[in-house]
Amino acid sequence: MKTSNEIRKQFLDYFSARQHEIVRSAPIVAKDDPTLLFTNAGMNQFKDNFLGIKAPAAPRLADTQKCLRASGKHNDLDEVGHDTYHHTMFEMLGNWSFGDYYKAEAIEWGWDLLTNVYGIDPDLIYVTVFGGDADDNLGEDVEAVAEWQKWIGDDRILRFDKKDNFWEMGEVGPCGPCSEIHIDLRRPEEKAKVPGAELVNADHPEVIEIWNLVFMEFNRKADKSLVPLPAKCVDTGMGLERLVMALQGVKSNYDTDLFRPYIDFLEREYGAKYGRSEEETIAMRVVMDHIRAIAFSITDGQAPSNNKAGYVIRRILRRASRYAFTFLGINVPFLYRLVPVLAEIYRDTFPEVGQQQEYLGKLIEEEEKSFLRTLERGTQLFDEYLRERAGGERLINGAFAFKLYDTYGFPSDLTRIMAEEKGWQVDVAGFNAEMQKQKDRAREAGEVQTGDWVEINALDDLPVFTGYDTLEGTARIMRYRTLETKKKNKTRKVYQLVLDTTPFYAESGGQIGDTGTLRKGDAVIRILDTKKENELIVHEIDRLPEFAEGDWEAQVDPERRRRIKANHSATHLVHAALREVLGQHVEQRGSLVSDALLRFDFSHFQKMTEEEITRVEEIVNARIAEGIALDERRAVPIAEAKELGAMMLFGEKYGDQVRVIVFDPEFSIELCGGTHVTNTHEIRLFKIASEGSISAGVRRIEAYTSDRALAYLGDNLATLEQIRALLKQSQDPAKAVAQLIDSHKALEKELQKLQQAQVGQLKEGLLARIKAVGNFRLLAEVVDVPSGKELKSLAFDLRKDRKNTVIVLGMVNNGKPMLNVAITADLESAGTFNAGQLIRELAAEIGGKGGGQAGFAAAGGRDAEGFPKVMAKALELLEGA
Ligand code: SER
Repeated sequence: MKTSNEIRKQFLDYFSARQHEIVRSAPIVAKDDPTLLFTNAGMNQFKDNFLGIKAPAAPRLADTQKCLRASGKHNDLDEVGHDTYHHTMFEMLGNWSFGDYYKAEAIEWGWDLLTNVYGIDPDLIYVTVFGGDADDNLGEDVEAVAEWQKWIGDDRILRFDKKDNFWEMGEVGPCGPCSEIHIDLRRPEEKAKVPGAELVNADHPEVIEIWNLVFMEFNRKADKSLVPLPAKCVDTGMGLERLVMALQGVKSNYDTDLFRPYIDFLEREYGAKYGRSEEETIAMRVVMDHIRAIAFSITDGQAPSNNKAGYVIRRILRRASRYAFTFLGINVPFLYRLVPVLAEIYRDTFPEVGQQQEYLGKLIEEEEKSFLRTLERGTQLFDEYLRERAGGERLINGAFAFKLYDTYGFPSDLTRIMAEEKGWQVDVAGFNAEMQKQKDRAREAGEVQTGDWVEINALDDLPVFTGYDTLEGTARIMRYRTLETKKKNKTRKVYQLVLDTTPFYAESGGQIGDTGTLRKGDAVIRILDTKKENELIVHEIDRLPEFAEGDWEAQVDPERRRRIKANHSATHLVHAALREVLGQHVEQRGSLVSDALLRFDFSHFQKMTEEEITRVEEIVNARIAEGIALDERRAVPIAEAKELGAMMLFGEKYGDQVRVIVFDPEFSIELCGGTHVTNTHEIRLFKIASEGSISAGVRRIEAYTSDRALAYLGDNLATLEQIRALLKQSQDPAKAVAQLIDSHKALEKELQKLQQAQVGQLKEGLLARIKAVGNFRLLAEVVDVPSGKELKSLAFDLRKDRKNTVIVLGMVNNGKPMLNVAITADLESAGTFNAGQLIRELAAEIGGKGGGQAGFAAAGGRDAEGFPKVMAKALELLEGA
């Protein structure tokens, strides 16, 4: 049996022998593409090459690409685990031609590789071709049909429409007709019953697509029209996991050597059993699939967090954790223990996982711990919900189930299982309605409609960035457009343009984009921001140019850039200093370099001590004072940069040639595309303003440089002066404040004692006001106590040692009425009254809602005028009982 490593290698060797240059997988985390959070197809990294604005590394390329389909247009997350062949993370084997070969070779090689090299029986294969589309005015792909006819019978060439056989990366962008290769892995008896041709594209687990050959020839515009690409290209994508399943002769991707080691581990270490029950099997698949998505994303720079891409990863991690919790009975962190298993599987293909193994493990374990705590809090909430509604309809409403899902990470199926265990049901329709509402809100919150570019000059090359050497220059406008962003029903228009050559730095590597102006005669366009779209430098402007043609004078805001440079160089110095002080495990995890401050995220598991922070500041300031000249090296071959000892960040996509920034070869060598001071003394001063944690194992410092650092220190001194003046004490303000705090605490204690004494007196007075009502006793009074806390303790006090009594206490707190109901223990155990039920009726009189348990309940309201009615109602309820 061939191993997955051999199968992958055979693919790459096959295309290498056909003059394809083998390239590395791009990071799984998508950067610089506003339409994507994660790489979802092998072709993502070649988008600009298809569009003809960047020359490809070679006319023929091949690779294996780490992909994630758990968000956006291609999202398989909810299916994963329930079937045997969908994944969040998977490897896509691909070969590309950029204006070189086309349909004939792509089809011939596809066929040859599968049948002759991999030895797949041709009788198992079906192919699909694009059948045409009237809206797009496209006919059937007769060329593809003719090419396939050379290799396969007509009855196995199936035509499908746009949905299946026209591949598009997103709403806009490169696209074209495609031809898919499907494979029928069913047993002969089943084949005899239903012909395979009927099951193609029908979601059958054993008749599946393995390879998609896309003939990229159009660019889909925002107005939905198709414009031919400068050259006809080929983009193929084959799912490695599925291919390996077919070649290893197993029935499920999870039975291949890409997954088996996890099954063995889970069975050995956690007593799980693959195949024992459907639920257990699904849970194991979820775990196996998700650990890959999690590990590769973190390795490539995206840790779990609470927004955007980070949130996708957190959700995936939580999904794995709770499937294990619910169906495998694993209630301790365990996913992190799968990291070494994964690292071993990919030792030769993606060694980056193994290199970061320790960090990955710690981070995942911390996430799991914190999720398990959340799960516990959610479970408590769930129990409380059931308790409060005991005796009522045994239905968990949709809003509550959704809250558990959204805030506490409970999937609806977990809530359902927990509910069923206690004989309750979940309002599934209500849950779905809440989910839909949230989706609608999300859509409204950030819909971007991309307008098409208006071409002024043909752009056949990427814009040239001149901003390392100059802040100004003459430029031509190549194209401009309007983007509409819909946010909460408000439409915002953003205008953008692209220049042929530009001194404006486009936001990347954490450094914000430049601002400035474009001038031509009297006309002035303000540049509000500069960003990258893939590798295109795009300027956000305040208005569209009236006459775009001709030469424009570009000018970057020099003062702003000066501050940005100082902050960026200081970021390199602080990175080096942190490694010196904390250790070599410190690695950059993210950064923000703006004109206002620098923010640096790095891997480290403890809070930094005061001494460590001071030490880092001292090192950086000493380096600044030393006046180290910038040693900037452009176009250094990547291998040479590695040899220099440059720090490579995982998840960064480096070209063959890189820019290296050195401040003293003994101290700081980094690969960096940012702008820097020419000498460290330009930074003038460095001061750390804060240090904290942003997620497990990742710390963040924020710091100031130059005049901002001085201003920061000045502000702090001014505050100190104010404190001194207020204290009328200039010697030792810290000691004086500490004394103030101590005496404040003592006074508070004193006050509390007095208040308790008052409440005691109040209680005596109240006891005298207990009335007999029917067969019971009632105390219904509005009292004057400092807060809800005292009200509650008063109610409990009154309830204690008494019998046959219902206590209804009201108070007004900051203008808002509050109500407590307590019933004595004898009434509670006899079930005569229920405080939770009583309060629901009583609180209505003050316009409020409340809840609690049988013995005690509390409510807030809006209308204190209603108290007399509350008391009257209490009387009525007792009389009637
Ligand atoms: N872009 C196509 C896909 O993702 C083929 O690589 O399926």
